[in-house]
Amino acid sequence: MGRIILFTGKGGVGKTSVAAAHAVRSAGEGRSTLLVSADMAHNLGDLFQLETGGGIVKAGDSLFLLELDPYRLMRREFPHAVQALSDLLAGPDLSARPMPLPGFDTLFSLLMIGKIYQEGTYERILVDCAPTGETLSLLKFPELLSWYMEKFFPVGKVITRVLAPAAKAKYRVKLPERKAMNEIQRLHRELAALQELLRDNSVCTVRLVCTPERMSVEETKRAFTRLHLYGYQTDGLYINRLLPALEENPFLSHWREVQRQYVGELEEVFAGQPIVRLPWYPQEVRGIAAVERMGGALPEDGLFDVRVRTETEVYTPIDGGFRLHLRLPEAPGDIRAECQGMDLYIEAGGAVRRIPLPDSLKGASAAAVLEDGMLYIDLRQRRDGEQ
Ligand SMILES: Nc1ncnc2c1ncn2[C@@H]1O[C@H](COP(=O)(O)OP(=O)(O)OP(=O)(O)O)[C@@H](O)[C@H]1O
Ligand SMILES: [Mg+2]
Repeated sequence: MGRIILFTGKGGVGKTSVAAAHAVRSAGEGRSTLLVSADMAHNLGDLFQLETGGGIVKAGDSLFLLELDPYRLMRREFPHAVQALSDLLAGPDLSARPMPLPGFDTLFSLLMIGKIYQEGTYERILVDCAPTGETLSLLKFPELLSWYMEKFFPVGKVITRVLAPAAKAKYRVKLPERKAMNEIQRLHRELAALQELLRDNSVCTVRLVCTPERMSVEETKRAFTRLHLYGYQTDGLYINRLLPALEENPFLSHWREVQRQYVGELEEVFAGQPIVRLPWYPQEVRGIAAVERMGGALPEDGLFDVRVRTETEVYTPIDGGFRLHLRLPEAPGDIRAECQGMDLYIEAGGAVRRIPLPDSLKGASAAAVLEDGMLYIDLRQRRDGEQ
């Protein structure tokens, strides 16, 4: 079975360097390795000092690079859907908005990665993702796309086709036509399959890269919570750019002390996760020798294993219903849980997760309890007349 590791983190913290260091290590073990850049601002070519772009490039024995162009992929694979969604979201002014939804570009990159995985050519696929916010916004996509589908096309494909001309005249909105609807449905299916693959913790894990400074630490903590909320497996934290001990230099000693405090905070939040500390090198990580040097600083054993495996979304019976268990290591502030229709909505730290419920829990009451890094949602069937 293949392996996918997604590297993510705030802008500029070292995601590309760390992902590349893993790729070089992996290829060095003789495993066929594909390093993919899913970030629109590609720089693998620069890092490996190779001509990239347009397709998969061989960068060494067992090492391959790919800089994805999601726009091209989108237009090639789903031309009608892209146009229809742009039209729909642009409203009557059809000239606006070239991109249908924010985050779609990275999403298409991930779809492509899913396809490459299914083809089975590479043993390890290491993904250099876009900065945290964007990556995470797309992890909820199948749920988000369901929402769009239901909101805009509640009556289903056939009726939409019949209604399209009428809707256009009445609301001055262009409803998608048949080809587009077919593509949107295919997209929806492929996204659901992709989400299943990315949530399969025997194949795919997410590793977070950060630097020991306030903004990066805060963002990394939030990312960790969201990944858990959406049911993804994290199995590593990389703290990059640690200053060396130079006691005689008060300026550096001060910053080392600041770093030490943030490392301590990260160790608390990421307890149970493998933490890798990487030094601040005197030169940029550029060129194969520098990437190899960082590769040499990574742990020796089991680097590509799924290093942590936790169960997500476990249900246990309680009096009058079920308790849903979600790992949520960092308390994200206000948490709200509510059942609406067939779904449970959980709002935590500004992110909303929608979890479909079994029939028996339709309209149940939901109460959220956060305890020791676990979020428990007690779902109880309401008795007649109860609010
Ligand atoms: N440990 C390190 N020591 C010295 N320089 C480093 C280290 N890690 C990264 N760098 C340098 O910092 C810069 C940013 O690193 P990198 O491109 O890997 O980050 P990134 O998170 O991928 O950034 P972006 O969000 O822009 O894609 C690069 O110039 C890189 O060479
Ligand atoms: Mg990068």
